[in-house]
Amino acid sequence: MLKIGVVLGSVREGRNGLAVANWTVTKAKELSDPKLVEYELVDLADYDLPFLGTKASEEQVNSIQSWSEKIASFDGYIFITAEYNHGIAGAFKNALDFLKPEFKDKAVAFVGYGGLGAARSIENLRVIVAELGLASTQRNVNMSLMTDFENMTVFNPAPFHEGELQELLSQLTSWSKALKGIREV
Ligand SMILES: Cc1cc2nc3c(=O)[nH]c(=O)nc-3n(C[C@H](O)[C@H](O)[C@H](O)COP(=O)(O)O)c2cc1C
Repeated sequence: MLKIGVVLGSVREGRNGLAVANWTVTKAKELSDPKLVEYELVDLADYDLPFLGTKASEEQVNSIQSWSEKIASFDGYIFITAEYNHGIAGAFKNALDFLKPEFKDKAVAFVGYGGLGAARSIENLRVIVAELGLASTQRNVNMSLMTDFENMTVFNPAPFHEGELQELLSQLTSWSKALKGIREV
């Protein structure tokens, strides 16, 4: 059984990201064999992380530990990312900076949403995840704020994105399976 974490990297109040993450989990489950792959939503907003390097409260120390353990428990990931000034959200970058061994020899794929489907923040993420030891898939899903949302707030994705997600899942699960073999050697 492969375990894939769908990691939502936006914590903004009223965020669009939650609908995109929920769609991704629902569709991924529909498109996959539940005997072979399971998907779990990991919401960064559930983890009260300090800025890396600043003094953490006792609760935040526990949050850092929970975040690390949760991320380490997966064989692969789908990162759900917005685009903020052509990069990823600051909270997401901060949260990733707490991690490294948790990601070693695993695979990641990206579902982005933004003016241009978060294309630029996904390219930004590719450079970051390479340094974290993750292999990133060729296929993304890019949701447009103009055409996949009504009034840029109500998520109503075009049907063709399901086909894109299917290709993304195919790449992600085959790499996650292969890399699991490497980790078990
Ligand atoms: C500070 C800020 C910067 C943004 N910069 C960009 C940008 O560079 N490109 C883009 O396509 N959208 C940009 N946006 C729009 C966001 O991608 C959009 O609001 C998205 O819904 C944010 O994700 P969230 O709703 O999950 O927080 C920006 C939004 C904010 C608040």
